[in-house]
Amino acid sequence: MNQDDQFKNVISHAKEYGFVFQSSEIYDGLSAVYDYGQLGAELKNNIKQYWWKSMVQMHENIVGIDSAIFMHPTTWKASGHVDAFSDPLIDNKDSKKRYRADVLVEDHLAKIEVKISKEITKAAKRFGESFDAEMFAQTNPRVVGYKEKMAAIEARMKRCLEEEDLADFKQLIIDEEIVDPVGGSRNWTDVRQFNLMFSTEMGSVAEGANTIYLRPETAQGIFVNYLNVQKTGRMKLPFGIAQIGKAFRNEIVARQFIFRMREFEQMEMQFFVKPGTEMEWYQHWKDERMKWHHSLGISKDNYRFHDHIKLAHYANAAADIEYNYPFGFKELEGIHSRTDFDLKQHEKHSGKKLQYFDPETHEHYVPYVVETSVGLDRMFLAMLCHSYNNEKLEDGSERIVLRLPVNLAPYKVAVMPLTKKEGLPEKAREIVDNLKSDFMCQYDEKDAIGRRYRRQDAIGTPLAVTVDHQTLEDGTVTIRDRDTMKQERVHMNVLGGRLFAALRK
Ligand code: GAP
Repeated sequence: MNQDDQFKNVISHAKEYGFVFQSSEIYDGLSAVYDYGQLGAELKNNIKQYWWKSMVQMHENIVGIDSAIFMHPTTWKASGHVDAFSDPLIDNKDSKKRYRADVLVEDHLAKIEVKISKEITKAAKRFGESFDAEMFAQTNPRVVGYKEKMAAIEARMKRCLEEEDLADFKQLIIDEEIVDPVGGSRNWTDVRQFNLMFSTEMGSVAEGANTIYLRPETAQGIFVNYLNVQKTGRMKLPFGIAQIGKAFRNEIVARQFIFRMREFEQMEMQFFVKPGTEMEWYQHWKDERMKWHHSLGISKDNYRFHDHIKLAHYANAAADIEYNYPFGFKELEGIHSRTDFDLKQHEKHSGKKLQYFDPETHEHYVPYVVETSVGLDRMFLAMLCHSYNNEKLEDGSERIVLRLPVNLAPYKVAVMPLTKKEGLPEKAREIVDNLKSDFMCQYDEKDAIGRRYRRQDAIGTPLAVTVDHQTLEDGTVTIRDRDTMKQERVHMNVLGGRLFAALRK
């Protein structure tokens, strides 16, 4: 199955089993806005908990807050979002489709990267075991040529973005013969900047309504509360403030399902440090966050770092953790060294001091900040794409199984009576009642047992407990493992402990 088909299957599976629905679907949907269904809400909550636990609960010096979506409009002037939070957009005059100019160029670069990989794979086949891929990549004229071309394109785009040279940005697209991905045309408009913030009005017209913004990142809610938390929590540097919440961006191009949405959720942490130590902490959090992703047990090859070509207006260093989605490696999380930009800007615009008194040096200063920011919806999508498997079984049949990391699975245990008769449902319900305060359980008695196992595989339930006639005789049940499909018989008296152990494996 090619990657496109794989992605289409993931999207339809997400809908069929109640993970993700198009928003307002009965009105034909709203572009780039999605709702999470009954299983999606569970999976999303489990991702949030996994993040919160590792960032807040496991760190004595990180606390969590929940700030409002609406903020004083000056916040966004101070943060630079009113003036600089924009993307370069370009339209194709023939297809009438709108694109982010930088994404067009990045996709073009990705195609050159694919050419490099193909050259290396071809050479590996030709040279056999003695092949040294690194040496080949450094010396093969064709590969070296591709790399030089990529570097030149990246440098030119960086200059265009930094110097706002939108005319040359268009020229870059023309020079590289980049075509409209939909229609193949090269008939482009000029490149222009487009601010991504949504605005609305607060208060009635009579009272004098104020334009306010839907927050485009949760981070500013942390910055404006920096002193409140530092003082009331008696926090000492270095310390962090974390939060999970909605953010809104009027994205120019909304594609790829829940990858790029107009309403989405972020899990962000701002780590306040002594000026001069920020690069150490930047490296620390890059490492820590990569470890967090790896801890979910997904192949490490699916993750990589990507240093930013163009730094955001607030950053002096920035890298993405990219995930290998079916449509290629794309940003999952950003780690940014934000300097003292935000706090200094809020000091300037509010007239309030946002400083830290260092008890060791007896100095007052504005802390520097290292930020980690992961998109909850992108995590969700990565987990779905990784987990979705269409497996051929030994007996020639097929099954769809979601191999979700156990701690993220919506249901942990399904409990099923073998038949709907002879007291088996009552026994199974009794088991559910005993288990449900410890495990998210689903009771299922409809259809043949084989179909029920398939249904649980399809929603990623790691364990299924089956009650059969032997249960009534000797008090034993079977536990079936989603991944191996192996079953073991255990006594009900030890069921809870066995399930805990199996889920921890
Ligand atoms: N506070 C820093 C910040 O907002 P960002 O790189 O713009 O940085 C952080 O966003 C993360 O938020 C991204 O790595 C991505 O996972 C997620 N994200 C950003 N825009 C998104 C969108 N339109 N839809 C879904 N997730 C998005």
